[in-house]
Amino acid sequence: MTLILSAQEPFAQGGNRLCFVHPEDDQRCIKVRRPDFTLEDRRRKKGFPKNLKPLYSFDDNREEYLVMQQLTRTYGEQVFQNISRCFGFVDTDYGKGLVSELIRDHDGAISQTLKKYLWDHGLNEEVQRAIDNLCRLWEQEIVPSRDLLLHNIVVQQRQEGLISRLVVIDGLGSAGLIPFHWLPAAQRKKKVARKTANLHERVNTLLSQRGQDSFPGYHGLLLHDGRPESTLAQDINASEQEDSPSS
Ligand SMILES: Nc1ncnc2c1ncn2[C@@H]1O[C@H](COP(=O)(O)OP(=O)(O)O)[C@@H](O)[C@H]1O
Ligand SMILES: [Mg+2]
Repeated sequence: MTLILSAQEPFAQGGNRLCFVHPEDDQRCIKVRRPDFTLEDRRRKKGFPKNLKPLYSFDDNREEYLVMQQLTRTYGEQVFQNISRCFGFVDTDYGKGLVSELIRDHDGAISQTLKKYLWDHGLNEEVQRAIDNLCRLWEQEIVPSRDLLLHNIVVQQRQEGLISRLVVIDGLGSAGLIPFHWLPAAQRKKKVARKTANLHERVNTLLSQRGQDSFPGYHGLLLHDGRPESTLAQDINASEQEDSPSS
């Protein structure tokens, strides 16, 4: 059966994928390739020598699915405190879609990105604690990830002003040529420590931009909040295009 997504608006768009609320389960989302930025476009953009790699290696959905299976085998339940669960593929009118746990707040609204949260609230104690918890899990469990970007982490709020957790929704796995789990333990630890240190740096950079009029870049804003009478949540005077799509 093919699920029809084109009848609804995506709730978000990343550098590579469009994200829709699952039409049959509002607690799940479906991520599909952006029709305006195909795998071929992505490969072409990489340039030599990366463009020699096979097309499937540019497919985030495929990679995310493989990484999630590996994470489940290696780490078990507790990593899903801070990583969205993944439920496999479905056919859609936009091609194959990857189904994931859709992170929502106490009031039903789709959770905002860490980038948007920090932009709105600054670094309050609540979010500081949530960031520390995420970094602790990453370092203790030595979770393989690409850079921890502020728009690839969402902030789940359990009531007004209180955060239940940060959830990483994109950018898992390792970009290196050598599979992460083949690396010696000391090197794995070092890599993870670099990712968490970079996250703190990114937080500081964003905080230093808060004086600007508009939200920096277009990554990290929702297109709607996923509730039945969805509010068009964001001030999209922010939508100046960034130089290149990045996930
Ligand atoms: N599981 C999820 N729950 C809530 N929001 C999500 C989820 N997955 C993605 N999003 C939102 O959609 C945006 C784009 O999704 P992402 O998976 O990062 O796409 P891309 O691979 O194109 O970067 C994110 O920045 C986030 O705001
Ligand atoms: Mg992303």
